[in-house]
Amino acid sequence: MSEHETEQSDDESRTYDPDADHAFPDERLNEVLEFVQNDPEIQTYLDAQNVNPVVRKGYNDHGRKHISIVRNRALGLYDLLKKGGVEFNGASEQGLDEADESVIVALAATIHDIGHVVHRDEHAYWSIPLAADILDRILPQFDFYGTEETVRVKGEVLHAILCHHTEEDPLTTEAGVVRVADALDMEKGRSRMPYEKGGRGIDTVSSQAIQRVSLRQGDTVPVLVEIEMLNAAGVYQIDNLLKAKLRDSGLEDDIRIVAVNIRDDDNNLVERVEL
Ligand SMILES: [Fe+2]
Ligand SMILES: [Fe+2]
Repeated sequence: MSEHETEQSDDESRTYDPDADHAFPDERLNEVLEFVQNDPEIQTYLDAQNVNPVVRKGYNDHGRKHISIVRNRALGLYDLLKKGGVEFNGASEQGLDEADESVIVALAATIHDIGHVVHRDEHAYWSIPLAADILDRILPQFDFYGTEETVRVKGEVLHAILCHHTEEDPLTTEAGVVRVADALDMEKGRSRMPYEKGGRGIDTVSSQAIQRVSLRQGDTVPVLVEIEMLNAAGVYQIDNLLKAKLRDSGLEDDIRIVAVNIRDDDNNLVERVEL
């Protein structure tokens, strides 16, 4: 069995597979995803948005790889929440279809960080006008979106983009999913708390401690986020990043976070801790 197959079997939510069975209507999503992957403007933004954080500020990756992880995690989270019967209010309160929920999640996840091309600081706000231009261009190209749907989908995507950072509270479940997914990109040094490469501060040390993040169906809640770490420093990362983003996301009661210490020595400070 290849490594890829092993990953799929122990964590199906790692990569979104358009051909898999999903707990939601996925035809619109699949069409939108294919368009996005082949859109030169969007793909260029995903590279260009890395210049300010990485080249100029010396931070870790916020580009194409980050976006791929966040979008896959967001769709995996959304699928588990749908399986668990969680109600989504964003699309429905706009009179949109259930099929638009995942489109909103995927588009917001894809372009949430493009404001980095303006500045790293306050980038969620700078993402808004840039994303609005992209959405105005692409949404009318789909047969299923007329003027009204375009305006409403655009509004919901912009809401989710704005609320991906902690200063603004998500008012929709779709936006909550994007915000939490943004924090799930934390395996093996890929912390979302920007830290200086090569630094030895707690941000760096705690970020290096996290080995693997798995999303599973929970027993008592729809989603269990299991985080494997080499030492207890990883807890700092979870508290300051994941738990900060989960707070006021609207999904606090639907997601459980469990930390597991995978290093087998006498210094274990964490075995398996509910966070
Ligand atoms: Fe961001
Ligand atoms: Fe992000």
